[in-house]
Amino acid sequence: MTRNDPTVRRPAPADAPVLVVTADEHLLATLLPLAAAADVAPTVARDPLSALRAWARAPVVLVGADLAEEMVRHAPEPRAHCFVVTTGPAPHELFRTTLRLGGEQVVELPGSSAWFVELLADLTERQPGRARVVGVIGGTGGAGTTTFACALGQWAARSAPAVVIDCDPQGPGLDRMLGVERREGFRWDALCQTTGRLSARALREALPHTGQLGVLSWYVDGRVQSLQAFAVREALSAARRGHAVVVVDLPRSPDALVDEVAARCDQLLVMTVGSVVGVAGAARMRARFADHPDIGAVLRGEAFSVTDVQRAAGLPVLAQMRDQRGLAEAVDLGLGPLRTFRGPLARAVARVLGDVPDPQAGAGEAA
Ligand SMILES: Nc1ncnc2c1ncn2[C@@H]1O[C@H](COP(=O)(O)OP(=O)(O)OP(=O)(O)O)[C@@H](O)[C@H]1O
Ligand SMILES: [Mg+2]
Repeated sequence: MTRNDPTVRRPAPADAPVLVVTADEHLLATLLPLAAAADVAPTVARDPLSALRAWARAPVVLVGADLAEEMVRHAPEPRAHCFVVTTGPAPHELFRTTLRLGGEQVVELPGSSAWFVELLADLTERQPGRARVVGVIGGTGGAGTTTFACALGQWAARSAPAVVIDCDPQGPGLDRMLGVERREGFRWDALCQTTGRLSARALREALPHTGQLGVLSWYVDGRVQSLQAFAVREALSAARRGHAVVVVDLPRSPDALVDEVAARCDQLLVMTVGSVVGVAGAARMRARFADHPDIGAVLRGEAFSVTDVQRAAGLPVLAQMRDQRGLAEAVDLGLGPLRTFRGPLARAVARVLGDVPDPQAGAGEAA
């Protein structure tokens, strides 16, 4: 399992940090916990010259009221997402200083704390290079969608935090598939009861885990369950901010919320069985998601060639794989579908995620 995998590494540092410009310890003590709640770890500049060095690269700049006037004198480049922050009510002159600095707004803490956390989370989440979100949907039932989604998550979690999100209430439960069904942690029903913004760290830490792979799943206990739009949006947003790779297992049933989630995925994979029915199902999915900018098929079985499937389904085939032996046994043992990081399933997920597989091992199999 990935927990004991010696190759597990810490994630690479994300983009340039948020910049806080202040020498006011009281302001810092108020501000830093709010930044943490937004899952932001800022860099602090205690004088204008240090601030100038990081000014342009930072996604957001927060200038303390104590240094705002001094910053104006250093005439930094005007930039977006610059805010002046103060503890307690802002004196009248601070608004003029903010204007001269090109700041968007004066933020009064702790009064505007909740709004401020949300703002920080929103502004930083849009940084490029955060998570890659991959949706997986079946062209037909039983195509191996859930299996492939779990395998993608297991592969990605070898090198960075990853999460698989189960959007199929009728499915077997991703937690079962990955052997974490007995572990404590958030499932969808807990998320549906949460109100307000979910921080990336809160979600990451609350989910049941296997190694670096978090699992957001359903209780499989006969309760009638359905996707709740607000919970899905919150979960996806927090998952994207807190992980390197997010994999979503999507049900095939026509549903506006599923279409919305698919649209939020950077990449959409259509699991396709190499049969007439399988390819017809993939073609239907291509038509349903015709506007998606990055959609491709994963072909299971060798009865049909990649070229034929590409032509008939109208989708690029990103990987073709033979059936994986020992799959049911690995899942029964709680190891998840990727029992080892070799074999047809592992090579296919590596190919999709862009990790170059061993060329010998992949010979004759991949697209
Ligand atoms: N790569 C694979 N190799 C061999 N067997 C597989 C593979 N992928 C899936 N299977 C088998 O196919 C069956 C269906 O798999 P899975 O539940 O992943 O499909 P699905 O497309 O998610 O199904 P559903 O439409 O019910 O959601 C399972 O018995 C599983 O073990
Ligand atoms: Mg499934």
